[in-house]
Amino acid sequence: MKKHFSIYSIILILFMTSFSCQSSGDQEKKESSIDARVDSLLALMTLEEKVGQTVMYTSTWELTGPAPANGNNAYRAQQIRNGRVGGMLNVIGAKGTRSAQQLAVENSRLGIPLIFGYDVIHGYKTMFPIPLGQAASWNAEVARIGSEISAIEAASSGLHWTFAPMVDICRDGRFGRIMESAGEDPFLTSVMAKAWVNGYQGDDLSDQYSIAACAKHFAGYGFVEAGRDYNTVDISPNTLYNTVLPPFKAASDAGVATFMNAFNDLNGVPATGNAHIQRDILKGEWGFEGFVVSDWGSIGELLNHGFAEDSAHAAQLAMRAGSDMDMESEVYEYHLQKAIEEGKINEKLLDDAVRRILKVKFQLGLFDDPYKYCNEVLEKKNLLTVENLEASRDAARKSTVLLKNEKNLLPLSKDVNSIAVIGELAGSKDVPLGNWRAQANKNSAVSLYEGIKNALGDRTSVEFAAGYQLIEGNRTFFDTLNFAEDDGSGFKEAIRIAKRSEVVIMAIGEDCFQSGEGRSQADITLKGRQLELLEKIAQVNSNIIVVLMNGRPLAIPEVHQIAPAILESWHAGSEAGNAIADVIFGEYNPSGKLPVSFPYVTGQEPLHYDRKSTGRMVPENDQYDMVFWSHYEDAPNEALYPFGFGLSYTSFEFNNLEVIASENPGKITVSVGLKNTGDLEGTETIQVYIRDIAASITQPIKKLVDFKQIRLLSGQEDRISFTLDSSDFGFYNPQYQYIVEDGKFEIMVGNHSNNLISQTVEVKF
Ligand code: BGC
Repeated sequence: MKKHFSIYSIILILFMTSFSCQSSGDQEKKESSIDARVDSLLALMTLEEKVGQTVMYTSTWELTGPAPANGNNAYRAQQIRNGRVGGMLNVIGAKGTRSAQQLAVENSRLGIPLIFGYDVIHGYKTMFPIPLGQAASWNAEVARIGSEISAIEAASSGLHWTFAPMVDICRDGRFGRIMESAGEDPFLTSVMAKAWVNGYQGDDLSDQYSIAACAKHFAGYGFVEAGRDYNTVDISPNTLYNTVLPPFKAASDAGVATFMNAFNDLNGVPATGNAHIQRDILKGEWGFEGFVVSDWGSIGELLNHGFAEDSAHAAQLAMRAGSDMDMESEVYEYHLQKAIEEGKINEKLLDDAVRRILKVKFQLGLFDDPYKYCNEVLEKKNLLTVENLEASRDAARKSTVLLKNEKNLLPLSKDVNSIAVIGELAGSKDVPLGNWRAQANKNSAVSLYEGIKNALGDRTSVEFAAGYQLIEGNRTFFDTLNFAEDDGSGFKEAIRIAKRSEVVIMAIGEDCFQSGEGRSQADITLKGRQLELLEKIAQVNSNIIVVLMNGRPLAIPEVHQIAPAILESWHAGSEAGNAIADVIFGEYNPSGKLPVSFPYVTGQEPLHYDRKSTGRMVPENDQYDMVFWSHYEDAPNEALYPFGFGLSYTSFEFNNLEVIASENPGKITVSVGLKNTGDLEGTETIQVYIRDIAASITQPIKKLVDFKQIRLLSGQEDRISFTLDSSDFGFYNPQYQYIVEDGKFEIMVGNHSNNLISQTVEVKF
């Protein structure tokens, strides 16, 4: 390709390179050198070029070929050549990103590189468990290692930036995007958020394998009314500040490079046009120095919300509110320049947006080598490696949650004579890859059936029957799912093999495209005839191990009644079958804990453990004798499986809780004894919750403030300590001030949110 380096860009590149050579490794110096480079570049930019940096296109053409010469694509290619585009998404592969980068770097006046973003949500080629599954590990290393490997794969394929992690608190199983989240709890989500950010970004964004992360969707998206995607969010400042924002703050504190705002209306002001959260809180209070990208078309959607009169108005509102980059709504592209020329927006706001965008590009090292990530050799070498798959298998094992294990049916001995593996999901090599699967190869996961066979020698007969039929036809990321009209023709074979086998392993749950964006459901029970088949199988064989595959909490009380053993595997990624088999045969003793409450019925949703008491809580010994308590007449208040719940093949006992308010004001030491009382080595997660007995703003009946995972040998005991301080006991008031109030607090410790021993203490701060 012909190179068109203008004289300015040559001078600039020389200047910048020499500057970068002078900068020392010291972080502060490096930062100030980057700031200086950003300023000198900004000073050279025309208004058009500045607006260009705020424009993000999706790839609409085959970028491994030449840039198109006509149609809308030709226009877009020309815009890139003219320096009117700052970033792109969905450009795939080292070759594709190189060709797009060449358009910008070799043709535009200043040669400013594009930034390439993509939804690398739980893997690029090697799929890890869906984020909700990773959160079920309650293990920050699972999240960090998974995102580090995803970053290596994505960076080796030319990408600079992932639109992850999603840190929206989600407590409504109807919301399909709960699968992308860490579930219902702000503390657990904050821990995972930090680990995900660290994994993607590493210590230094300029490293070859670091990519910029993006905390999304700012803010409130998990609270869409009735769990319906894109719906309105109307929540109190209390919920916004104390439940929704903390994980975003954690991501910001962890140095996340970018934020993405959200589609939803937030208390009357759409998130994309919301200056309070973006300017006052994020860029103000929190001192966030990266940039904010809009969600797909969300600046344009300010019109649909009834917030902007027209696109020109939307441009002004979004820029004033702090949305720095416009993903695909073409509003900044067509309206920002005019708004500035007409004095409707202060150019300083645009300068601030551009400065932030350029800064991230500098931090990524794109000005030193814009093609640094476009390396086909690394792309061949680093994707889907044996090591990556092994890490995925380990993450999947750690994400599995044992929900029931009557008569110790699990772990299963490998000496078992015959196993019937049943269920369409058990045979699927695609479902475990999950939704938001980036560049995963279709049908590339190890199915449950394969995993079981891999684990056993020839001595065991392993038979498979799909049994039920869940989904009909092709399903993709974009299309509405067609649930099958199951005529039950597969039942006979499934029942036949179940009858003659020693043990049945039956997979039920959801297709992977039942959850994810646009996949809300009004009903979160099992679809199709899965339950009916399970009931029939139970009549011929009582040794049933149910393996759940799903992207949301399910309402499955009948499954709990029928099956003696239940394993929650989520959509576990590339190595799903092998990992689940590791757990079934006891190679791995399950340690996962639920990051979301599972209801008995959909109508309990949104269900979360950290609810308020109400003035009419059900008295402990008077359940349902009288009606005037806060309860349902046709369902329990509690969860079927509560937040934090998960069994092990061994058992643990908590004892001697000690809570000591130290001399140091406001510091509380909590310690508890833990004993492995079972026969196997195992890992337990000790969870600490608090309740503020009386506060000026009513507080939840319990709230997770810390946890630790401990591995103990059979019979081994240990004492585990936690130190809590004022940051654990306070809350934000409606003015977004963090306050801590003296008084009585109940401190609760245990292994899930409904199994806690407690002590009440008086604390002075
Ligand atoms: C989603 C974002 C995603 C973006 C780009 C939007 O529809 O809400 O989470 O990052 O598309 O694919």
